Amino acid sequence: MKTIFSGIQPSGSVTLGNYIGAIKQFVELQDDYNCYFCIVDQHAITVPQDRLQLRQNIRNLAALYIAAGIDPEKSTIFIQSEVPAHSQAAWMMQCISYIGELERMTQFKDKAAGREAVSASLLTYPPLMAADILLYGTDIVPVGEDQKQHLELTRDLAQRFNKKYNDIFTIPEVRIPRVGARIMSLQDPTRKMSKSDPNPKGLIALLDEPKVLTKKIKSAVTDSEGIVKFDPANKPGISNLLSIYSILTGISIGDLEKKYEGRGYGDFKGEMAEAVVAALQPLQERFYALVDSQELDDILDAGAAKANAVANKMVRKMENAMGLGRKQRKA
Ligand code: TYM
Repeated sequence: MKTIFSGIQPSGSVTLGNYIGAIKQFVELQDDYNCYFCIVDQHAITVPQDRLQLRQNIRNLAALYIAAGIDPEKSTIFIQSEVPAHSQAAWMMQCISYIGELERMTQFKDKAAGREAVSASLLTYPPLMAADILLYGTDIVPVGEDQKQHLELTRDLAQRFNKKYNDIFTIPEVRIPRVGARIMSLQDPTRKMSKSDPNPKGLIALLDEPKVLTKKIKSAVTDSEGIVKFDPANKPGISNLLSIYSILTGISIGDLEKKYEGRGYGDFKGEMAEAVVAALQPLQERFYALVDSQELDDILDAGAAKANAVANKMVRKMENAMGLGRKQRKA
């Protein structure tokens, strides 16, 4: 069975963008692959976090994974900081990364822009991500469009390590969904929907209450034409809403265009809001039943144990390849 690894940062409210770009793929893939789904809390602290909020976000994300349909019997769900091999491997990956290639990452440039103090970890974020992926012999990494560049770097680093030291890493492939790889902000449809958007009206959080959700959709920025048509270049707002509506209901974009022919955006948004509420309600119910439970801790304990066992073996291989520590004696 091939191996899948992916992760999400517990750095804010998990959005519909995270769901459509990542979690939905995870659920679809888990029957056919050996899957690891990580809560990447060490990535989250590359920018300042409130410690209590971070703790809560970690738990929420774990519960959301399961509420969205990831089955802990099939997939390994774990918290990055509970598997120390990630930081060990990240250091080794940093040692083969070049500053120039890290500075070229668009996510680094975006996150560093406008900050007075930029942490070193914001720059060395991608070698940690490469470590996450390479530790598990990962074949495929399902992510949204914005992570493509990090995946290319991961492949480069893996190849570099294999060539320089020893051929120990599988070269992972990226998997980006055909539709919904980049869900846009409701307030500025030329920018991606982001967990860390300071304006909460731009994002749909998976845990938004029905009333909040409905209000956000109704106040989404569109255009003045009043024609429901999928045309991302000229009508980015309504096209983004059409994508979300279609993905959550399974109704094709073409059928939605027909359904709303001759009707205005008001009708469209009202019915879309009802559909989004209906799609998220069962997920929210499962989430609240799970988030404070012992069951969730048991799942995360088991996940960490399994991930540690696999990841520690790869760290030993990496250390051996690089000549760290002492030669291991045969028992
Ligand atoms: P993060 O936490 O920003 O996002 C998690 C996942 O959600 C996808 N995504 C989106 N997809 C579609 N539309 C959007 N608006 C949208 N916003 C986010 C992201 O592409 C991602 O798949 N660096 C990663 C976390 C990470 C990781 C890893 C991922 C750390 N280690 C190893 C894969 C493998 C990140 O910041 O994702």
